[in-house]
Amino acid sequence: MSDTLDAAPVADDGFTRFDFAALSPRERYKLLIGAVVPRPIAWVTTIDERGRVNAAPFSFFNVLSADPAILALGVENHEDRRFKDTGANIRATGEFTVNIVDHANLHAMNVTAVAFPPEIDELAEAGLTALPGHAVACPYIAEAPVALECRRYVTLSISASRDIVLGEVVAMHVRSSIINERLHIDPAGLDALGRMGGHGYARSNETFDLPTMSEAQYRAGR
Ligand SMILES: Cc1cc2nc3c(=O)[nH]c(=O)nc-3n(C[C@H](O)[C@H](O)[C@H](O)COP(=O)(O)O)c2cc1C
Repeated sequence: MSDTLDAAPVADDGFTRFDFAALSPRERYKLLIGAVVPRPIAWVTTIDERGRVNAAPFSFFNVLSADPAILALGVENHEDRRFKDTGANIRATGEFTVNIVDHANLHAMNVTAVAFPPEIDELAEAGLTALPGHAVACPYIAEAPVALECRRYVTLSISASRDIVLGEVVAMHVRSSIINERLHIDPAGLDALGRMGGHGYARSNETFDLPTMSEAQYRAGR
């Protein structure tokens, strides 16, 4: 038995191992998106320098910090190295809005994932309503339960074809019926979609509570 990782998967101790240096980008992608699930989906609205609206979903996404309020988006280029409209617009304007996708917007979100040319307004194609941003110039989606208005904090160009955009959240819209006066957002009302591996999705309307214990509570409960 060898301790080194092989390009070929090995399964002699119940695990199948992969040496990432020996994998193709496609293979790494398949492994990562299958294992790191469910991923939240940023439904990103931007405008270009001429004010034309763009929308697209991104599941290489999460919130990373609350103070400052920072979230991250992983934006790839198209296979021919052209920037996606979202990436080009954030480069040009430094602003974007992350709308949260709920189950009711599943099909509309999928329309906005189509590789339309820049002049096509995906919100109009999907029958969605653009509302004017408050702190940023790009609109947010009226049909989405939550929208986070962001200004680019920094962009990490991690390869010729991939940017990680960190954005600072400067304003947030929450559908009033799903938030209470204690700032708790009702997860069933939010009904956010998660992205699984392949073309899979998950719903988040089945949840449970599990408070973190102090050490004393943990020892008392044993
Ligand atoms: C659920 C979902 C998640 C996606 N996540 C990403 C992602 O994290 N990064 C990315 O570059 N593309 C992602 N895509 C693909 C883009 O949405 C797609 O390339 C889109 O056409 C880009 O649009 P744009 O050129 O208007 O920015 C995802 C697509 C779907 C349906």
